[in-house]
Amino acid sequence: MGKILVTGGTGFIGSHTCVALINAGYQVVVMDNLCNSKVEAIARIEMITGKHLRFYRTDMRDKNGIRQIFEDNKIDAVIHFAGLKAVGESVEKPLEYYENNISGTLTVLEVMREFQCSILIFSSSATVYGSHNVVPYQEDMSTSATNPYGYTKVMIEQILRDVCLAQPKCSAVALRYFNPIGAHESGLLGENPNGIPNNLVPYVAQVAMGKLDCVRVFGNDYGTPDGTGVRDYIHVMDLAVGHVAALAYAVNHPGFEAINLGTGKGSSVLDVVHAYEKACGKKIPVKFVDRRAGDIATSYADVTKAKELLGWETVYDLEKMCADSWKFTLQNPNGL
Ligand code: NAD
Ligand code: WQD
Repeated sequence: MGKILVTGGTGFIGSHTCVALINAGYQVVVMDNLCNSKVEAIARIEMITGKHLRFYRTDMRDKNGIRQIFEDNKIDAVIHFAGLKAVGESVEKPLEYYENNISGTLTVLEVMREFQCSILIFSSSATVYGSHNVVPYQEDMSTSATNPYGYTKVMIEQILRDVCLAQPKCSAVALRYFNPIGAHESGLLGENPNGIPNNLVPYVAQVAMGKLDCVRVFGNDYGTPDGTGVRDYIHVMDLAVGHVAALAYAVNHPGFEAINLGTGKGSSVLDVVHAYEKACGKKIPVKFVDRRAGDIATSYADVTKAKELLGWETVYDLEKMCADSWKFTLQNPNGL
């Protein structure tokens, strides 16, 4: 087991996972069409690790393009991050989301079958717990979604279950990420959204930089300790190491598993703002506004399964997540 194809490997979570894989001794081949990332990420990964990695600018829906990667490299396993991920945009453009995320994944799976590559780690999401379950979320709860993006995750998990039933040698692990934030501690890699950020921490970072005026807190009347939404924020490097653990597990365990990757701990919007104030040494202005449509009050993981099956748990706290996000933002004010 040595060579790993990372789809979406120039993106936020993929690039950090490349670092963790290389640090664990794997060879990494990256594939991305750069629709939401920059090729500069490759140079940054190489700077951090001191190792060379091969990059293909390929769309995952281009079957011959993916075949070429498998012909050029003996790929032992695939970690599949590539996909579109903006919830609001998925409501506006459902066909684009289903086409990109589902067709793209089917193409990757078809080529894997052709080349007898039987190990896949997939980026799923806590969004598959929908709005009907009660925290802490456990992997055996029923899944659903509230938007097309979320449905692509629910559907791809089902596709992977079915593929594992039909091809008993296959291993597929769907990692259900909670709220990944933070950056590599070097400040060389981090989150780099286009335009005005949708997610809380990139938005807070831009307020701290003076690029945006104040954080709009979406609702302070939830049934939570301070009334603002509670989420399970996880440091992206903890998440990255979780993929290395999942890969080691998948090698010896055929079949499908869904596993939560979170800290098991909830933090409110105001907790995040206060931790960020501490990290950047500035006051971050907030304004309370109406709840955002589709948001739930509270989301956090039951992390028992990840501990038991993968021997993995998080090590970084919210302060470290904010400190690393701030370092990346200061060093890269215009992104990568
Ligand atoms: P990202 O946008 O930074 O990375 C995704 C990468 O996929 C991008 O580099 C993009 O260019 C690439 N891509 C998209 N469509 C492609 C295609 N057709 N062919 C080739 N490359 C393509 O996002 P991220 O935050 O790193 O997320 C990675 C994965 O994790 C995604 O599948 C996302 O849905 C999932 N996820 C993310 C979060 C989060 O909060 N960031 C939470 C849960 C799950
Ligand atoms: C966090 C909290 C907001 C912005 C989303 C996707 C989910 C997953 C992760 C991919 C909430 C509040 C936010 C702001 C705010 N992605 N907030 N002001 O909504 O938990 O999850 O990203 O799978 O599918 O839905 O993350 O960072 O947008 O919000 O008050 O400007 O911050 O209401 O309580 P969310 P988020």
